[in-house]
Amino acid sequence: MKYDEITNSFFKRRKTEMRVAAFLVGLFFFTGSAFAETDPMSGCLELLQNRCQRCHSLSRVCQKVGEKSKRRWAATLKRMVKRRGADLSGAEQDFLLNCLAIPAPAIKEECGK
Ligand code: HEC
Repeated sequence: MKYDEITNSFFKRRKTEMRVAAFLVGLFFFTGSAFAETDPMSGCLELLQNRCQRCHSLSRVCQKVGEKSKRRWAATLKRMVKRRGADLSGAEQDFLLNCLAIPAPAIKEECGK
């Protein structure tokens, strides 16, 4: 093989490798963003921030994250709404309940857990 044949085939191979790499990077971002959009727990933290801080800081909630069972969270949320006057629809309570009972990643991060 002549010298420029060798360099040519080298660069051809590099080109293919670069395409494969670009494809993989693209795939990574695509699946990443698709996952973020369909993450059923996104919005949990926002809901906590918007509806629970009127009366007490989130640290009060954070203290119990990972501690209470689903049943006890349901009771707490109900009490916050019925007795304390928190503004949460039934659907919002169900939604929050699920991301508190098994803490959503964003909540864990906010609470440093
Ligand atoms: C209208 C005022 C108010 C709002 C809004 C409110 N809370 Fe509370 N929360 C209280 C009061 C008052 C207490 C202390 C008395 C008690 O525990 O009932 C408390 C205590 C707590 C506690 C500690 C006691 C326990 O049972 O673990 C948690 C956890 C809690 N709140 C969660 C929440 C969450 C989650 C939200 C948002 C959905 C929320 N609170 C919104 C008034 C409020």
